[in-house]
Amino acid sequence: MEATKILLEEKEMPTSWYNILPDLPKPLDPPLNPMTKKPIGPEDLAPLFPMGLIMQEVSQERFIEIPEEVQEIYKTYRPTPLIRAKRLEKHLGTPARIYYKYEGVSPAGSHKPNTAIAQAYFNKQEGVTRLTTETGAGQWGSALAMACRLMGIELTVYMVKASYEQKPYRRIMMETWGAEVIPSPSPRTKVGQKILAETPENPGSLGIAISEAVEDAVGRDDTKYSLGSVLNHVLLHQTVIGLEVQKQFEKAGDYPDVIFGCVGGGSSFGGIGLPYVKEKLEGKDIRLVAVEPKACPTLTRGKYAYDFGDTAGMAPIVKMYTLGHTFVPAPIHAGGLRYHGDSPIICSLYDQGIIEAVAYNQNPVFEAAVSFAQTEGIIVAPETAHAVKAGIDEAIKCRESGEAQTILINLTGHGNFDMAAYDAYHQGKLEDFEYPEEKIEEALTHLPKVG
Ligand SMILES: Cc1ncc(COP(=O)(O)O)c(C=O)c1O
Repeated sequence: MEATKILLEEKEMPTSWYNILPDLPKPLDPPLNPMTKKPIGPEDLAPLFPMGLIMQEVSQERFIEIPEEVQEIYKTYRPTPLIRAKRLEKHLGTPARIYYKYEGVSPAGSHKPNTAIAQAYFNKQEGVTRLTTETGAGQWGSALAMACRLMGIELTVYMVKASYEQKPYRRIMMETWGAEVIPSPSPRTKVGQKILAETPENPGSLGIAISEAVEDAVGRDDTKYSLGSVLNHVLLHQTVIGLEVQKQFEKAGDYPDVIFGCVGGGSSFGGIGLPYVKEKLEGKDIRLVAVEPKACPTLTRGKYAYDFGDTAGMAPIVKMYTLGHTFVPAPIHAGGLRYHGDSPIICSLYDQGIIEAVAYNQNPVFEAAVSFAQTEGIIVAPETAHAVKAGIDEAIKCRESGEAQTILINLTGHGNFDMAAYDAYHQGKLEDFEYPEEKIEEALTHLPKVG
């Protein structure tokens, strides 16, 4: 019998993260200062991030050591298992071998602590005593709340108001770890006051919550800002996922033909995928497929252009696929995939044809998640369900072609706090949204003028 669960021992856990920057076939276009529109240097980012993270953002070192204190906390839930989805394979009647890397075993229930712990650590090293951040449905906010508590740092989370009201459990988790949680837009910041004056019932968005968290951090000497995705250093920290998977496949005597991961800002997809992009660039035959919602089709329908990272235009301008920073996403349940842009690293790889992308509506995504739950047992997060759907579709293609491919799915988190979404699906109340072309065109007219 082939193994079902491929485990690593603690001593086999990676001791360095993989930095793809020196291996990219084309260097990234530089981020620009939102005021001057000139390339930014480390000093421009210093009000927001500690120097340790800024240096990682631009580092050309291929491997960056994981500090011992971070490794020790990682060990409370890492190495995470690689699991062969034998019952799903049987249910689908596919010759494909399906594996999933399960990041939902972390205390916060997703991959997000991999970078939250590292970011809290590097902030603490430089004497920062308070962080601010944004969160959508609460996965990122809860991961950072846990990490900040473990590192003894205060945290204020600006949580998108619609989620704050509809999803109290993630807020309660954050508060249990000692974080302050504020519904965004809020009267706490100038950005929030302005938005509330114009639209008092504004349900909020990730772009608005980022603007508030940035304004709060810039206004205080003891405070810095933390972002849960998109940035190079966040993808760097997440590579611990892919580095473990490589060792696990070696143990299993197998190798993935195709990797599927959902993409919100791109950190988990980069985390599992970048060590394999390196191998692909060295000649390995492997496909990497980013999966996104049709309601927020950043890679599949966005434009590759310079845009602001947030709604108010306070965050750096970066070159990425974007739906425009004024984009207001439809209220799909995969809150973590409703961001107008994507990581510049992922966008550059997509632009060069090194990775692929597909988009799905939420009803077929939940149908796949229910099949997965009923065969493998795990009820995945709505974000994760996008990758599950793509993996199942590939396995069905294999059934039709008779090809015995090895499929790897990044199982980024569990959905134990997302029962309202599953309930809506069961009751036939989930709506599919395809983002209208004219709205994309309109949002793209607001791109910043650069160069
Ligand atoms: C469980 C889960 N998976 C994936 C994502 C998408 O984020 P990223 O693309 O940065 O991995 C999120 C974001 O909140 C998430 O909560």
